[in-house]
Amino acid sequence: MRDAPLHPPIVIAHRGASGERPEHTIAAYTLAIEQGADFIEPDLVPTKDGVLVARHENNITDTTDVAAHPEFADRRTTRTIDGETMTGWFTEDFTLAELKTLRARERLPRLRPDNVRHDGRFEVPTLAEVIALAQQHTAKTGRRIGIYPETKHPGYFASIGLPIEPALVAQLNAAGWDDADAPVFIQSFEVENLKRLKGMTGVRLIQLIADQGAPADGSYPSYAAMTTPDALRRIAAYAWGIGPAKGLVQPGDGPVTTLVRDAHAAGLGVHPWTFRAENFFLPASLRRGDDPAAHGDLSAEIARFLDLGVDGVFSDFPYAAVRARDAARGRSPE
Ligand code: G3P
Ligand code: CA
Repeated sequence: MRDAPLHPPIVIAHRGASGERPEHTIAAYTLAIEQGADFIEPDLVPTKDGVLVARHENNITDTTDVAAHPEFADRRTTRTIDGETMTGWFTEDFTLAELKTLRARERLPRLRPDNVRHDGRFEVPTLAEVIALAQQHTAKTGRRIGIYPETKHPGYFASIGLPIEPALVAQLNAAGWDDADAPVFIQSFEVENLKRLKGMTGVRLIQLIADQGAPADGSYPSYAAMTTPDALRRIAAYAWGIGPAKGLVQPGDGPVTTLVRDAHAAGLGVHPWTFRAENFFLPASLRRGDDPAAHGDLSAEIARFLDLGVDGVFSDFPYAAVRARDAARGRSPE
C-alpha cells in the first residue's frame, strides 16, 4: 500500500554523479547538478592538517593514484579502523598540499569502464570547494543546490585528535547554513556524534542505518535494533530523518517492510541508499541481460521506492532519479 511522503522527495547525488565520473570529484558533483540533483553528497575525512576533504574512506589506495607516487611510498601503513584492519595510504598522514598532488581514480573499473578514461584528471576536493560549488550553481541556476555531508569514522578521527564535527560546523556556519532551513543534511552511521551535533548546529541530521553490522560507537548492538518503532522514536529526538540501506525498505523483489511507515509515524523523514543502474545492484526483475555492468531499469526501482513514500533517494545516477521523481510527481494525486 502506498504511504505518503512527509516531504517532497529530493534527489541526492551519491558521491556526485558517481556512476558517470570518478566519485567525489568536482566533475562528478558538477554533472550531478547539471542533471538536476537537489543535493550533492560529500563523504568527509580530515587531512593531517585538519582540513575536511571528500573521500568515501580515509584509505585512499583505491580511489587515488597515490600508489604511483614514489615520494609517498613510505606513508604506506597498516591500520585498524572501526575494527577493520587494512593496509594502504590514509588521508590523516597527508597535508592538504600533499593530497592535492594526487588525482582521483575510478573505484569500480570493471562495472564502470567508461569512467576509467577520467582517471588522473581530477583532484580530491575540499569541503570548502564543495560548498562553493553548490553556492555558485545556486546563484547561476536559481535552483537551490544543497550539500549532504557524511561524517566518516567520527569516533576514530576524534580519537586521533582530528575531530570532524567542529570543522564541519564552522564551515557550515561561515556559509550561513546553521538552521533547519539551510540546504544541508548531516549524516552519520554513528549515533553519539549526531547527538553532539544536535547541540552544535541547527541543520538537519540524518541517522544512517546499514543492513548489517552495528554502529562503530557501540550505541546499539546492531543496526537492526535501530529499526524498531521504539528505536525510531528515540532517533527522532535528535535526528530529522533516517538514511537506511534500501534493502531495509524492500529487499530486492521481496516484501516491503514497515520501516517507511514506522519512521514516518515517529516523525522521521526517510532517504534510502543507494540506487545504481548496473544490473549488479538491481533486483532480479529489473535487470536487463546477463552482464553485471549493463544497465537495467533503475528508474523503475526508484519509482517503486517513491511509491512507498520515501522522502528522497541517494543515487549514483541522478539523471535517472530526477526522471523517476518528476514522473512520480505527475502520478501524485496532489
Ligand atoms: O550516505 C548514504 C550512503 O552513502 C551510505 O553509504 O558507504 O556509500 O557512504 P556509503
Ligand atoms: Ca555516504
